[in-house]
Amino acid sequence: MFSFSSLLTLVIALPALVAGELSGKVGPTTSHATKAAKKTCDITKYGAVADGKTDISAALNSAFTACKTGGVVVIPTGNYAMSKWVKLAGGNNWALQLDGLITRTGTDGGNMIMIEHSNDFELFSSTGKGAIQGNGYQFHIQGSISGPRLLRVWDVTNFSVHDITLVDSPSFHFSVDTCTNGEVYNMAIRGGNQGGLDGIDVWSNNIWIHDVMVTNKDECVTVKSPAKNILVENVYCNWSGGCGMGSFGTGTAVSDITYRNIYTWSSNQMFMLKSNGGDGSISNVTLENFIGHGNAYSLTLDQAWTSMKTIAGNGVQLSNFHISNWTGTEVKGTARGPIKVACAAKAPCHDVNISDFAMWTEQGGSQFYSCENAYGSGFCLKSGTNYAAYPATTQWVSKAPAGYAAPTMAADLKTAFGTTLSIAVPTMPASFFPGVLPITKLAGSK
Ligand SMILES: *[C@@H]1O[C@H](CO)[C@@H](O)[C@H](O)[C@H]1NC(C)=O
Ligand SMILES: *[C@@H]1O[C@H](CO)[C@@H](O)[C@H](O)[C@H]1NC(C)=O
Ligand SMILES: *[C@@H]1O[C@H](CO)[C@@H](O)[C@H](O)[C@H]1NC(C)=O
Ligand SMILES: *[C@@H]1O[C@H](CO)[C@@H](O)[C@H](O)[C@H]1NC(C)=O
Ligand SMILES: *[C@@H]1O[C@H](CO)[C@@H](O)[C@H](O)[C@H]1NC(C)=O
Repeated sequence: MFSFSSLLTLVIALPALVAGELSGKVGPTTSHATKAAKKTCDITKYGAVADGKTDISAALNSAFTACKTGGVVVIPTGNYAMSKWVKLAGGNNWALQLDGLITRTGTDGGNMIMIEHSNDFELFSSTGKGAIQGNGYQFHIQGSISGPRLLRVWDVTNFSVHDITLVDSPSFHFSVDTCTNGEVYNMAIRGGNQGGLDGIDVWSNNIWIHDVMVTNKDECVTVKSPAKNILVENVYCNWSGGCGMGSFGTGTAVSDITYRNIYTWSSNQMFMLKSNGGDGSISNVTLENFIGHGNAYSLTLDQAWTSMKTIAGNGVQLSNFHISNWTGTEVKGTARGPIKVACAAKAPCHDVNISDFAMWTEQGGSQFYSCENAYGSGFCLKSGTNYAAYPATTQWVSKAPAGYAAPTMAADLKTAFGTTLSIAVPTMPASFFPGVLPITKLAGSK
């Protein structure tokens, strides 16, 4: 029988609202308050010292063992060092509260913190100040990106990661690998200005990623295969590689992906799909409400992506792409026009619809749109249903489209962080898309 108080707990623990693009509820099934009431395992009671020198990995492992079947592992405010990496595996009904700053001191590859095979999990900062400092510049200055990734969740169900900051990873910052029903939000990620330092990579099922800021020079928030029901919204690529999908190879299986309210500043691209050969399919993709400024590429679906080797196969089949409401400017429309849809000759894409798309060039007075093996509606896309291959066609325009002007963000980064100096832990921005407040209030905000 339900008592009134257990009913109340249920109401409070109700996971975040379900958006249409998701297939069901996301987030932990139990609130961290309920877990804390059951048990709290403070790592400083298990041997951790906040002296910025002593490795906390053994203490973190012990605290996890004590709380992994129901409870909250707490890393309180303070400066901690980590020289060995942890795999926190097999937890259920637990949370990891990161209020302190963990600084990498070890040099192994792999993942500093790996959460695996867990259910009903939450990684969060109660103050919004919890962070992991990777000091990746110590690797990058030597031309290496072979150090550790900062955070990976693998095979985790019903979980959230929020209100934490990841800084200067030697390698990727955060991977969401083969997870289900997850929510990632209110995160700041700030890395060095070079490739291979991805922000968030996700290949999973039913994941909501929102209100995230990424500074780096590679993937901002990127979907890989296999993935289904991924909703990405309110993303601030604040000097980055930009958002995208890929790269894709054999057996690609990606569907029901939405990116909405994506602000991209001084990045490689606003959205890029990357493949070269391979097979499988990508369908039901919505890319709406994008604003860009200072980016080299804007919308690029490139199935002959030259930065990867050609993989055996007829090409990944793309279909049902709904792309609308893009505004802003690209760097140089004569060199890299704002629309490029280049699909595979042996698998022309279809039902790619582009509407309400108004972007203009920052340099010069013209730009072009280019399509190849691509069917759908809008711009240079071919209509019809025979889906025969055709060579690249370009449409030149020498007049700015109406309504292209779009706001910038006051906090746009003016110069990159480079790769040779340490990067400070940033504070969380108040907003991740012009005029839009975070869906869930930032931790520690009034
Ligand atoms: C995850 O939560 C859903 C309810 O939202 C539940 O049906 C499912 O069993 C949970 N998964 C696991 C592995 O417990
Ligand atoms: C794409 O969406 C349609 C309509 O919602 C759905 O019937 C179809 O199964 C989806 N495609 C995939 C591969 O899931
Ligand atoms: C288009 O995007 C802008 C933000 O760039 C938003 O304010 C507006 O409501 C969107 N329009 C539609 C029709 O969704
Ligand atoms: C593309 O446009 C066609 C024709 O207007 C429409 O039937 C189809 O539903 C649209 N598909 C998407 C994914 O927007
Ligand atoms: C973008 O980066 C700059 C430089 O660090 C920073 O000042 C600004 O706060 C960042 N923007 C946001 C929204 O965090």
